[in-house]
Amino acid sequence: MKKLLCLVLALVMSLMCVSVMAEGAAKKVGISMPTQSLERWNRDGEYLKQQFEAAGYETILTYSDNKNDQQVNDIDNMLSQNVDLLIIAAIDGDGLNTVMDRAAEEGVPVISYDRLIGNDAVSYYVSFDNYTVGTLQGKFVEAALDLANAGDKTFNMEFTAGDPADNNAGYFFNGAFDVLKGYIEAGTIKVVSGQTEFQQVATAQWNTDTALNRASNLLASYYADGTVLDAWLCSNDSTAAGVAQAIESDYAGDNAVIVTGQDGDIANLRNIVDGKQTMTVYKNVANEAIVTLEVAKAILEGAEVGEALIANFGGIECAFDTTSYFTSEGHFTPSFLLVPTVVTKDNLDYLVDTGLYAMGDDGYLIAK
Ligand code: BGC
Repeated sequence: MKKLLCLVLALVMSLMCVSVMAEGAAKKVGISMPTQSLERWNRDGEYLKQQFEAAGYETILTYSDNKNDQQVNDIDNMLSQNVDLLIIAAIDGDGLNTVMDRAAEEGVPVISYDRLIGNDAVSYYVSFDNYTVGTLQGKFVEAALDLANAGDKTFNMEFTAGDPADNNAGYFFNGAFDVLKGYIEAGTIKVVSGQTEFQQVATAQWNTDTALNRASNLLASYYADGTVLDAWLCSNDSTAAGVAQAIESDYAGDNAVIVTGQDGDIANLRNIVDGKQTMTVYKNVANEAIVTLEVAKAILEGAEVGEALIANFGGIECAFDTTSYFTSEGHFTPSFLLVPTVVTKDNLDYLVDTGLYAMGDDGYLIAK
């Protein structure tokens, strides 16, 4: 009798144990980032991993060296490891169809992170308002040159945009161009190279050296005769770094050229302090990770994912948008879009206040 009791007890205990394990089994989240070669994605990857692990999820984090095939493989492996949800910042927004189809077949939800993937299997999009990023850059140039009151004055400028494979790049460029195109048409702004089409000014993979080489060539071809360069609109910091370097070494004029950027990369913040870059559009990617976690939690818990979720973002400014982004004609992607901020050397404190940067003794910002 005693033996039987022991046996029953052991059985009950082991059953309890199994059920606790099932209840507590952490859900697995695959986080696929494009590359470690561009500063921000290291931060995104790290913040996402931290956020999800702190919330009790298991994570798989990969970087794919800016190679589409490698990203396809990385995501394929995540699916083979039975992830419950995917978070993807795509290298090539149109290059992930096979794995996106597999995710859809296996019922794995996908959050398109920062960059929209062109496939209807995307469940939600979390990003910043990309068009506004460009608008802020364009408006910065407009204000800095006081274009609205230019009268007969004219200014010379050039554009450098991002990677055509990145869905964001067109939004950034258009946002900026739409602010400035009236001045270009009126002749107040002269794009001396004549290169005003996105494809002409794009930078494959957002590569700094590619941006530098193009800028050096344009400076040699159009500005070597003493033509003044007033502004160079760059869509982000990795391209601004190349352009600033080209201006430093290959521009003959001695005026301060307005150079825009985006991200708040440490090297660019140094350039801002040194006057080699004028502004950056800062996007707090720690907040982007928090919003992503809340969206993922709601998806995995079967809760409603919509405007009301913003209340869970701890005061992070964010819009729920269902009309701006689409993965195919008529197929709009519900999007959570955070708000970007202009940073110049006059408000570097804004970055220190985020708690993610500190001011070093030498007057340059460091990442915390
Ligand atoms: C991001 C930018 C970044 C660029 C290059 C874009 O998709 O939104 O923040 O500068 O990629 O990494």
